[in-house]
Amino acid sequence: MNPVKPAPLTADVVATHAGPDTLTVTDNRTGKKYELPITNGTIRALDLRQIKVNGKDFGMMSYDPAFINTALCYSKITFIDGDAGILRYRGYPIEELAEKSTYLETAYLILHGELPTAKQLEAWTYHITHHTFIHESIKKFLDGFHYDAHPMGMMISTIAALSTFYPDAKDIFNEESRRKQIYRMIGKMPTLAAFAYRHSLGMPFEYPDNDLSYAGNFLNMLFKTTELKYHPNPTLERALDVLFILHADHEQNCSANAMRGVGSSHVDPYSATAAATAALYGPLHGGANEEVLRMLMEIGSVSRVPDYIKRVKVGEHKLMGFGHRIYKNYDPRARIIKRIADEVFEVMGRNPLTEIALECERIALEDDYFISHKLYPNVDFYSGLIYQSMGFPMTMFPVLFAIPRTSGWIAQWEEMLLDREQKIARPRQIYLGQEQRSYIPIESRA
Ligand code: CMC
Repeated sequence: MNPVKPAPLTADVVATHAGPDTLTVTDNRTGKKYELPITNGTIRALDLRQIKVNGKDFGMMSYDPAFINTALCYSKITFIDGDAGILRYRGYPIEELAEKSTYLETAYLILHGELPTAKQLEAWTYHITHHTFIHESIKKFLDGFHYDAHPMGMMISTIAALSTFYPDAKDIFNEESRRKQIYRMIGKMPTLAAFAYRHSLGMPFEYPDNDLSYAGNFLNMLFKTTELKYHPNPTLERALDVLFILHADHEQNCSANAMRGVGSSHVDPYSATAAATAALYGPLHGGANEEVLRMLMEIGSVSRVPDYIKRVKVGEHKLMGFGHRIYKNYDPRARIIKRIADEVFEVMGRNPLTEIALECERIALEDDYFISHKLYPNVDFYSGLIYQSMGFPMTMFPVLFAIPRTSGWIAQWEEMLLDREQKIARPRQIYLGQEQRSYIPIESRA
């Protein structure tokens, strides 16, 4: 279990104290006392550096593998209270956004801090819609991939390739240039994703249709065949749009951290987004929904669930789609996804793996191992079932995560760039290797 869980840093958490805003530290090696300022419920790691045993000492550092208790930044984008199962973008609860907003409106909110006016939304939608086409040479680039290339591999490489088409993106401190790259990235992600999918099927690429919504156009580019005009099913179109809202941002997760870390070198945003997409590809992050489906297929039937759970408890494998670094309660996104699943199943028929998933959840929620480890379904547990029912192959699942997360990544990137305290990310290490020694010629080595 994680030994420490930081309290969410909000004004009310920070304000409930009586004494001075300092932390007194006694170094028992020297008997010296230090007074460290507390700001927003945190001390600055650099303030520890004054704690030394002697003048030659480098000074105290904190050791925090995987950044479990280290705040990397101040952020105003996304708030999560993992114990209470709360997720808000810019203060708006995810439940309200999923019910009332659209993905493009939510992306605007995440990037600009406020919901758009009708005029702002119209302009925003216009700009995104008019940046959905990709250079014809990118099609040739995609054609170079083997027919069974994983679409995430294709996405990572193609997003990186975009930086060679838009050298103006290097002008990262120019606001106008940043806006342009934002339109391009949000606009082109569905096109790249759909083209990667069509390539794997050997089908001709379908160009964007500007009459359709963001999600509707994506479905068009994926699934249109011989019909003159593609008309997305409104239930599926809305379901996909809500799934996009749920995946738009999730504060300092692995891929957001990659985006900030790589972006901190001041590389262009396409290269940083390629790095973030690579981080998302991993089975512990955005690759988990693909793993959930593989797991459900491996279990194969409801009657085999108890045995599978037993094997999870002895550490043979994880129950994919369960557990979260931050949520120690039901992931609020999983709750919304469960509802959407029913709507999609009504149109497409019930996914036969659903019963197995429900049985896994039922047993896990009553089991001591899962209760004591605070393991609940996360966003990925049911999303794969919906995607599969909508006709997506499993390899496309992480791609469906990457498309909407692009708005969150860019918001995190821009916040990092404009934060005067941020510098190139460069953590410390504690060296435990060999002291200096002399080179041994190969004939003298044992
Ligand atoms: N099944 C069984 N045991 C688990 C699971 C699981 N899914 N997740 C965590 N545990 C156990 C783990 O073995 C450890 O036990 P112990 O303390 O006895 O050694 C304890 O719970 C804490 O786990 P951890 O790995 O230290 O926790 P973490 O915060 O480092 O990992 C996680 C979080 C999401 C990587 C992990 O829960 C996991 O691997 N889950 C399965 C993969 C998954 O569903 N990932 C999607 C995450 S949500 C989408 C996203 O944001 O990317």
